[in-house]
Amino acid sequence: MTEDVLVVHGGTPLQGQIRVRGAKNLVSKAMVAALLGESPSRLFDVPRIRDVEVVSGLLELHGVKVSAGAEDGELVMDPTNVESASTDEINVHAGSSRIPILLCGPLLHRLGHAFIPDLGGCHIGPRPIDFHIGALREFGAVVDKTPEGMHLSAPNGLHGAKLELPYPSVGATEQVLLTAVRAEGVTELRNAAIEPEIIDLICILQKMGAIIKVHTDRVIEIQGVPRLYGYEHKPIPDRIEAASWAAAALATRGEIEVLGARQQDMMTFLNVYRSIGGELKITDDRVARAGVAGSEGGIKFWHPGGELKAVALETDVHPGFMTDWQQPLVVALTQARGISIMHETVYEQRLGYTEALNSMGATIQVYRDCLGGTPCRFGRRNFMHSAVIAGPSKLHAADLRIPDLRAGFAHLIAALAAEGTSRVYGVNLIKRGYEDFEAKLAALGAHVERL
Ligand code: EPZ
Repeated sequence: MTEDVLVVHGGTPLQGQIRVRGAKNLVSKAMVAALLGESPSRLFDVPRIRDVEVVSGLLELHGVKVSAGAEDGELVMDPTNVESASTDEINVHAGSSRIPILLCGPLLHRLGHAFIPDLGGCHIGPRPIDFHIGALREFGAVVDKTPEGMHLSAPNGLHGAKLELPYPSVGATEQVLLTAVRAEGVTELRNAAIEPEIIDLICILQKMGAIIKVHTDRVIEIQGVPRLYGYEHKPIPDRIEAASWAAAALATRGEIEVLGARQQDMMTFLNVYRSIGGELKITDDRVARAGVAGSEGGIKFWHPGGELKAVALETDVHPGFMTDWQQPLVVALTQARGISIMHETVYEQRLGYTEALNSMGATIQVYRDCLGGTPCRFGRRNFMHSAVIAGPSKLHAADLRIPDLRAGFAHLIAALAAEGTSRVYGVNLIKRGYEDFEAKLAALGAHVERL
């Protein structure tokens, strides 16, 4: 088998314009939501990424017709004839993504039973699904975990429930939404996640006929309805991809305009970007359409020259600093003068990639303690979840192996910032979340080639 390796000749500032499409972490869930409708749904601006392929495959196995629409990036999903699939067929997708867990509610509503394969996704901690299973059981689902996967049934139907999450989990909140919309009665979810992707999913469900109220203090109330219909939706742009390119501009001392990036979803990131010395300019769609800029709004990010400033940060649920922004930004922080701190409070094992940065000349030390912020869930549990980054460090080329999606992009940025030629192994993993990243690198003037 040939290795997927990207050879990166680093040291050139990335310069130019790229575009982000619909958010990976919304699009895949929007596709699952289509299963709940009794008529076809149309999703626009869908990126060509691996997660979309996996969910398309799973939907098709269950009788949903998935086809490309007339527009570039348009996906049409027709769930008129939903049917059961065999465990063997479903298991082809085992280990490929975490999205299949979200099919539980929709399949129980449509078929009365569901089989969910072993989950995949990035190895960034144990990633349990106890909140999902707890909630499903409260709705009345019978969950049977077997070595081949998870079998679910709902012999007495699904009924609204009063639920409270131990932590505002994105996936568990989506699980509750996708199940409660067609459960009988009212569901109240406390301590829900309220990430912009979740609000966008709620917008989709409302378009389908759902009744969902988002109250203050992370409380969501869902009034179950007997049927839902198809939707037409343009998803929120990918704010993780946008921030990744922003970090690449900073780390390589370049200038990247990210078309499609939207200020309101990224305000926390933009504040941090400015505090460390990065420059940015926001062009709203309306201004762009008026002919002042191109035809589409976006955000331009650049390194203004001189030195970047160190910062103390912690990742958190929305509206905090996203855990998925952490890895690319840490690469830029290796170039900041002074001591930066990154306290990871969402995942317990998301700093492993710093070893690779150290092998390239960075000075990053990881600690078990909660540094630089408030104590978190991991403080007393022996997890290396705080990083201290001393900079600036001159990065040099190295051979790197990509461990997971976001850390993978961080490796890539580091290789692009470093002097010399690096080999980045396992680079296809980046395709899980970054559409056409090699074409985008080429458009930005990066010197990269496949081995
Ligand atoms: C989503 O993962 C995203 N994935 C992640 O992005 C993102 O990092 C994460 O939300 C946080 O924003 C997708 O949307 C596909 P969680 P999810 O449930 O839903 C614990 C990327 O690179 N937890 O909010 O799986 C869990 O272990 C990916 O695009 C439980 O303990 O995340 C974690 O510590 C990586 N039990 C915390 O909650 C549960 O049953 C937050 O996880 C569920 C979660």
